[in-house]
Amino acid sequence: MKIILTGATGVLGSHIMYEILEKFITEKIEGTLFLITRNKGKNSAKNRINELLSSSCTPKILIEKGVEKLHSYLEIIDTDLSQIQDTFSSKIQGAYFIHSAGYVNLSTDEDQKEKIFNENAKITETIFTTFHPYIKKFIYIGTAFSSGVRKGLIANDFHNLDFEPEHRNAYENAKFHSENFVAQQCKKIGLPYQILRPSVIGGKMLGEENNYFIPKYMVFYLLAKFFHFTAQRKNEQENVRFIVNEETGLNIIPVDYVAKVIVSTFQREDNQQLNIVHNKSFNIVKGLQLIMQEVGYTNFNLMQNTSDFKYKTKIEKLYYESIGKHLKPYFTTDANEYDTTLLNSILEIPKLDNKAFLSMIRYAKVNNFKDINV
Ligand SMILES: NC(=O)c1ccc[n+]([C@@H]2O[C@H](COP(=O)([O-])OP(=O)(O)OC[C@H]3O[C@@H](n4cnc5c(N)ncnc54)[C@H](OP(=O)(O)O)[C@@H]3O)[C@@H](O)[C@H]2O)c1
Repeated sequence: MKIILTGATGVLGSHIMYEILEKFITEKIEGTLFLITRNKGKNSAKNRINELLSSSCTPKILIEKGVEKLHSYLEIIDTDLSQIQDTFSSKIQGAYFIHSAGYVNLSTDEDQKEKIFNENAKITETIFTTFHPYIKKFIYIGTAFSSGVRKGLIANDFHNLDFEPEHRNAYENAKFHSENFVAQQCKKIGLPYQILRPSVIGGKMLGEENNYFIPKYMVFYLLAKFFHFTAQRKNEQENVRFIVNEETGLNIIPVDYVAKVIVSTFQREDNQQLNIVHNKSFNIVKGLQLIMQEVGYTNFNLMQNTSDFKYKTKIEKLYYESIGKHLKPYFTTDANEYDTTLLNSILEIPKLDNKAFLSMIRYAKVNNFKDINV
């Protein structure tokens, strides 16, 4: 079996890589996993992958196998995706192509728009156009938020709707555009495809190893990080008002669950589009209360969205001119849930209750919100 994976140095991609290697080992598959990975200056793509295969957070089964033996399953193609050539296309004939590389950036700033579009949509178009003649199937990792602003129950199909989704930012828009491109092109040429969409990715929750581990703290973790360090820096806590729709929630799904679903579903033909999400979004009010309690920032209130919001404190200004600006569209959006009937039949969704959510935040706090950059 041949599989190509992009984004293996990322939060999700690294866990997809772990799952594929584990599959090859436990199912005794003679497989090759091609990793399209870029170097970081003097740190070659191979070195970066080796770090991921030998860290304290690497799954035990892979550590036991050892880096050298794991390389018998691997072929690393050291390149930036924007510079990719098809020089290795004969080797990947008949491979499954899992495209997990992306630029996760929820910025609402106008000057970020073009970069976000190019890094997500343009790169997807280039690699699809370059490799589609050689591959067996194209699997695109989208985002559940490419649904745009929606109320009520959201089904798995986002590309046969009778309305245009309204997106909260350039990232959602670029991801939706990429998904649509993949679906349309594949239909035209008769190439099997899948669009698999995680919601907000949180720390590990399956099994016993390294629970709540996540290599990079994004989205809700960034809010926790902001107030954790503010609480540590200042003796006196200035008041902050969070603008929220109290009915809404943030859909969070553990990284190891997402990777397991992707690897157990990419060969299936019955789910061209699948949201890999929690069956219940985490209520925003509860989430904010738990985060602020855990990081020890107690001077905050919640308020409804208003058009004439004026900062009352310095910290409020700092928050809304940084991370708060990009999170606000998610905190004030309409409440919705996803239909997870099919997903739950593939792999039972782990329960994300208050205790588990708090454990995610606590893990990040104990680790000082320090990202692991290979
Ligand atoms: N994180 C989330 O909460 C979330 C939620 C829903 C969907 N997703 C989707 O899931 C996918 C994976 O996200 P993630 O969380 O793993 O993101 P991430 O941690 O930021 O990783 C992004 C990965 O893409 C690679 N990449 C980006 N541009 C590249 C380029 N030009 N050439 C080569 N590699 C490139 C990065 O390589 P470097 O290490 O070299 O930079 C890295 O491996 C993305 O498509 C994202 O849209 C993520």
